[in-house]
Amino acid sequence: MGSVRVVSLFLNCSLMSVAPVDKSGQRIRQMFGAIAGWYDFLNHFLSLGIDIWWRKKTVELVPPVGTEPILDVCTGTGDLAIAYWHAAGHKAPVIGTDFTHEMLVRARDKGLKARTSLDSAALSFIEADTMQLPLPSDTFQLVSVAFGIRNVTDYKAGVREMVRVCKPGGQIAILEFSRPTNSVLGKLYLFYFRQVLPKLGQWFSKSEHSAYNYLPASVLQFPSGEEFAREMTDCGLTQVTCCPMTFGICTLYRAVKP
Ligand SMILES: C[S@@+](CC[C@H](N)C(=O)[O-])C[C@H]1O[C@@H](n2cnc3c(N)ncnc32)[C@H](O)[C@@H]1O
Repeated sequence: MGSVRVVSLFLNCSLMSVAPVDKSGQRIRQMFGAIAGWYDFLNHFLSLGIDIWWRKKTVELVPPVGTEPILDVCTGTGDLAIAYWHAAGHKAPVIGTDFTHEMLVRARDKGLKARTSLDSAALSFIEADTMQLPLPSDTFQLVSVAFGIRNVTDYKAGVREMVRVCKPGGQIAILEFSRPTNSVLGKLYLFYFRQVLPKLGQWFSKSEHSAYNYLPASVLQFPSGEEFAREMTDCGLTQVTCCPMTFGICTLYRAVKP
């Protein structure tokens, strides 16, 4: 058997279908709680720093307008919430929500460091489930989420909740992993994603909750590109557009609440 065939077989093995992932709230909280201390470092290390650029691009492509409040759900350690707070010139209040306490502790720490002036708009983080936000309807000019929506037990309920709290005419920005459309690149990416990344992630974080096995499985089982865009339309959004980034490894979905 030629070496090309061996490599191809090897890559294909890494693409075999995966068992459904357990996305119960308790499991997700436990998993992110266990890796919270390593989350930022591993994010940047395993993505070679590209995740920082993805969030930066999100803020550029879906920019805040004026001083009305902004919400970032599944905010984790708060990077996108903080990026939006800076992008709004510290003049629009920003709220980050997440249901994993350990992640929010980091977000609050970063938020405190970012807020150097007392007269800037509020930057706050509250513990909340994305499927049941304790926030009033039709309130936010922009509701965002980065790498969070695919983890939500009923992700369509999560999107509908984002739509509920967004004001009519407001913007929705969803940044999420997707599957590259180029087949060679897609296979290489999936090989890294399924064989290399889980081992590195587990080794660094010493996580027993297999967060880095969960990552590829959850991405492979989540709708990608046009399929997810259609689901966003079903959730009541209009003007839904997909903006693939870095060969389609991740996609920014933009939409407007009618
Ligand atoms: C991969 S992290 C993303 C964090 C951050 N947005 C970022 O860009 O790095 C996913 C986050 O979603 C949160 N999450 C998952 N399901 C949730 C839910 N139903 N309600 C609130 N937060 C949730 C987890 O606690 C975790 O902090």
